[in-house]
Amino acid sequence: MAPWVPAFTSSITRESDHLKFIYFSFANIDANGLPHVRNVVFRNFLFDDKSTNVLVFVTDGRMQKFNQLLNNDKFEACFYFHHSRRQFRFNGFAKIIDLKNQIYPNVAVLSHDNIKLDSKSNNKNIHKNAINNNNINNNNNNNNNNNSDSDINKNTIKNDNIDSKINPPFVYLLYSPSVPSVPPTIDEWKKEHLQRWENLSLKLKSSFNKPFPRSSLTNEKRKLLDSISRGVDGNDINDGYNDNFKVICLFINEVDYLNEENERRVIYTRLNFDQWQEEEVCP
Ligand SMILES: Cc1cc2nc3c(=O)[nH]c(=O)nc-3n(C[C@H](O)[C@H](O)[C@H](O)COP(=O)(O)O)c2cc1C
Repeated sequence: MAPWVPAFTSSITRESDHLKFIYFSFANIDANGLPHVRNVVFRNFLFDDKSTNVLVFVTDGRMQKFNQLLNNDKFEACFYFHHSRRQFRFNGFAKIIDLKNQIYPNVAVLSHDNIKLDSKSNNKNIHKNAINNNNINNNNNNNNNNNSDSDINKNTIKNDNIDSKINPPFVYLLYSPSVPSVPPTIDEWKKEHLQRWENLSLKLKSSFNKPFPRSSLTNEKRKLLDSISRGVDGNDINDGYNDNFKVICLFINEVDYLNEENERRVIYTRLNFDQWQEEEVCP
């Protein structure tokens, strides 16, 4: 587990005594390099397991951020916990679980001497990732000779978009919830997707049946919105699930943690796999 997780989860626990939902600001950039920021609801760690270090929120695939993230998955997310006076700023890469288009986060298995691809993954980038992972695997063997097999033979996820010359390798350890020695299966990604849907209120589920976000508001759409809000639109509440409901997984590479209470600021940087560097800096 990453060293920032305990402070983060204790802030959430404290905040949850007062608030039903934890909100945060999620920012990414579009194809023109323009930043976009908006409030979203934190839906827990991936697989409800804080040791993944991966944060999750949900969205409608018709919203702008969906296509923007497919194009460029870099993000910054900012949480402020009023009751503990702590701010967490995360950056990394955002991967989408998309049932309709069968997009699941890229996962390969890193082993001692070869890369075994997750054969069930249909992501086209996986070969490129495997090559990149191979380099990282070599580095790992050179640098961490003391690692046991079980340390090295872990599941990894790789971000294509980050230049490894500027940044350290971005390979994410990720364990299957059911079999910790293999990567998450497609079924497990699907289960995660379903679990997030089932946790939503009926009102929120019905919002996935609303007219296309940001489309012009006509009289017809106004009537539809009104009937959806009164629950009399005649659609099945689960209609939006397959097509529009998406889960966004935030794979964290750096955390800028500011504790206003004791005036401490710490930068956590992921060096490799689940190794993190922790540096206290001036606030
Ligand atoms: C309190 C609050 C919570 C929100 N939670 C979410 C959320 O969890 N997911 C989401 O996609 N949008 C959420 N929204 C809506 C977003 O702020 C934003 O308007 C929407 O996602 C469209 O953004 P986009 O077009 O840039 O993708 C929330 C808005 C508010 C005010």
